Amino acid sequence: MKNALVIFGGVSSEHAVSCISAAAVIENIPRDKYAVYMLGITEEGAWLLYEGDTALLPEDRWLASGRCTKAVLSPDRTDHGLLVFRESGIEHLSIDVVFPVLHGKNGEDGTLQGLLEIAGMPYVGCDTLSCAMCMDKAVTNLIADFVGVPQAKWLSVTAHDYQKDPSAFRKRAEEYLGFPVFVKPANAGSSVGITKVKSRDAFFDAMETAFREDKKVVVEESVENALEVECAVIGNGDPMASVVGGIVPCDEFYTYEAKYIQADSELQIPAQVPLETQNAVREAAIQMFTALGCQGLARADFFADKKTGRVLFNEINTIPGFTPISMYPKLLEQSGVPYGKLLDRLFKLAQEK
Ligand SMILES: Nc1ncnc2c1ncn2[C@@H]1O[C@H](COP(=O)(O)OP(=O)(O)O)[C@@H](O)[C@H]1O
Ligand SMILES: [Mg+2]
Repeated sequence: MKNALVIFGGVSSEHAVSCISAAAVIENIPRDKYAVYMLGITEEGAWLLYEGDTALLPEDRWLASGRCTKAVLSPDRTDHGLLVFRESGIEHLSIDVVFPVLHGKNGEDGTLQGLLEIAGMPYVGCDTLSCAMCMDKAVTNLIADFVGVPQAKWLSVTAHDYQKDPSAFRKRAEEYLGFPVFVKPANAGSSVGITKVKSRDAFFDAMETAFREDKKVVVEESVENALEVECAVIGNGDPMASVVGGIVPCDEFYTYEAKYIQADSELQIPAQVPLETQNAVREAAIQMFTALGCQGLARADFFADKKTGRVLFNEINTIPGFTPISMYPKLLEQSGVPYGKLLDRLFKLAQEK
C-alpha cells in the first residue's frame, strides 16, 4: 500500500475546474494499491489537508466542511511528506507519490513541480522546465516552429512593449495576420482571457482582456473551417499516443462556457477525420511531447482542416482536465486504458522517473 497525495484547487483562474478534475481522479484511484490524501489550495493560497467527502470538492464546498486542517508539503527531503498542524501538535504524514491535479498558473506551470523536486517527492507529470514551456503559449509556439510542426501564424508581445505604442502593434498584427485573429494570454488556460477578434475596432479591448491574465499576449491567425482535435499522450521514454478525439464546440469557439458550463459541445471519439489525418495528429503529438521534454502525460491539441486534412498545432496541456466529461481520460479509455488503470499507470510512471 502506498500513500498518494492529490493536490487540488490552486491560485488559478482554473481553480474550479481543478476541484472537479480532482474529485474524479480521487474516486478512480485503485484503493487496493493506494491510500489517498487530499491537499486543497484555496483561491487565496492557503494549504489545507481535507479529510471529508470528495463529493464536496466541486464549488469549493469542502471549505465549509469542518474537515480541513492547515498542512504544508515539506521541502525537507527527510520529511518526505506533509506536515499537518493538528491542535495536538505537528503530525508528519509520509507520502510516496503526488498527483498535482492543478490546472493553469501555480500548478501546471512548473512552480509546484519545483517544490516537489526540492522535496524529492515523485510526482505525476512533466517536470519544472517542461511544464513552464508548455504553459507559455509563446514558448510552445517557438518550439513548434523550431521542430517544424505546422501551426497558425502568430505574434507575441509583452505588456511593456505593447503599451509603448498599441496602434503600431495593431498595425503590425493586421499586416502580418489579417482578421480574424485569436488574442490570448500567453499563460492562462480554459479559454480564460481569450477573444476572437473579427475587426480592427475590437482589437484593443481584446488585448486588454488578455493582459488582465498575463504580462505577455499571443495573437494568432484564426484557423477557419477546421475540426479541433486532441490526442492524449502517456509515457516517459517511449510515449504512446491515444486515438484522436474531435470537438465541435457549442459556442462560437471552445470558450470557458462551452467547456464547462453549457457542456453540450460534441465530443467525437474517434474524431471524424480521415485515418491519415488522425495519424498525422498522433505523430505531431509525440513530436511536441518529446520536443518539450514532457514526461508522464500531456494532451496535445490541433486543428484539422476539413477540406485539406492539414493538421495545425494549437497547444499542449501538461495537466489536462480529468473531469467526467474530459477528453484525456476518455481518449485513453478508448485506447484500452480505463480510468482506474490510467491512474495506476501514471503513479508508476511518476515513481520510475
Ligand atoms: N488560432 C486559432 N484559430 C481558431 N480557433 C482558435 C485558435 N486559437 C484558439 N482557438 C479557439 O480558442 C480555444 C481556446 O484556445 P487555446 O489556445 O486552446 O487556449 P486554452 O489554453 O485556454 O485552452 C480553442 O479550443 C479554440 O476553440
Ligand atoms: Mg485549449
